[in-house]
Amino acid sequence: MNAPDRYVVIGNPIAHSKSPEIHSRFAQQTAQHLVYERVLAPLDGFVQTVRNLVAQGCKGANVTVPFKLDAYALATTLTERAKAAGAVNTLKFDGNAILGDNTDGIGLVTDIVHNAGVTIEGRKVLLLGAGGAARGVILPLLEQRPQQLVIANRTVSKAEELAAQFATQGPITASTFDGAREGVDIVINATSASLSSDLPPIAPGIIGTATFAYDMMYGKEPTVFMHFAAERGASVRDGLGMLVEQAAEAFYVWRGMRPDTAAVYGVLRASLQAA
Ligand code: ATR
Repeated sequence: MNAPDRYVVIGNPIAHSKSPEIHSRFAQQTAQHLVYERVLAPLDGFVQTVRNLVAQGCKGANVTVPFKLDAYALATTLTERAKAAGAVNTLKFDGNAILGDNTDGIGLVTDIVHNAGVTIEGRKVLLLGAGGAARGVILPLLEQRPQQLVIANRTVSKAEELAAQFATQGPITASTFDGAREGVDIVINATSASLSSDLPPIAPGIIGTATFAYDMMYGKEPTVFMHFAAERGASVRDGLGMLVEQAAEAFYVWRGMRPDTAAVYGVLRASLQAA
């Protein structure tokens, strides 16, 4: 048998990445002959790391913190969704050509619409945060045709920049946290506040029993944002499904096959609970 095709995830740090487990399970399910490994790149050595991988015959890479902008700069071709995100989380190598894609946004949308069964079309959506994570999901959210998409951020100028950038793509506006007071159907936490167990300063009236509240972070325990939303009777969901779905989309980019994400999500959730 031929040597397996090689894929990697590149980051710094990288030891805790769940991508190898996810992609190995996808490969098993779909009988794809491949290996998937973690690669720790030096902080100033992303480009050289990629060049070495390509020279070794590597077929593709996922890219994580802090290299998504470097990957964007390195790609020789960018997909529309990567251009919109301004960042790349998936690279596909073909000779000297490097395709840069971004599957984070479609991962979020698939998790909300398909896995959680929540319709975005026609709904009022509030996106908290205006950093890289928020920017990466705006185009796929607008493609669902929400009634409105409000970007709320502590530094409102960053939200305004994003709203201006995507103004031709759909009904998008910017707000301060204080200015966003009307109830919404869907609220998505794309701030990094959960990392430090902080709650974004959302107005209390925004979340009620009919709200669907999504945190793009995940962990063994619900985040403070999820607690806050659940206390107000909202349905809540963390970002584990987004992680699995963005991986599935990358797998599709590389292999042209769609794995069964529910099975892999179940295994990851169980191992997270057991940790
Ligand atoms: P990421 O790539 O995770 O999006 P980032 O680009 O540094 O990281 O952006 C972090 C986002 O979280 C920003 O929107 C930031 O708000 P500011 O632009 O005002 O800095 C937001 N953020 C971080 N900590 C926060 C907190 N405690 N409350 C509210 N917003 C917070």
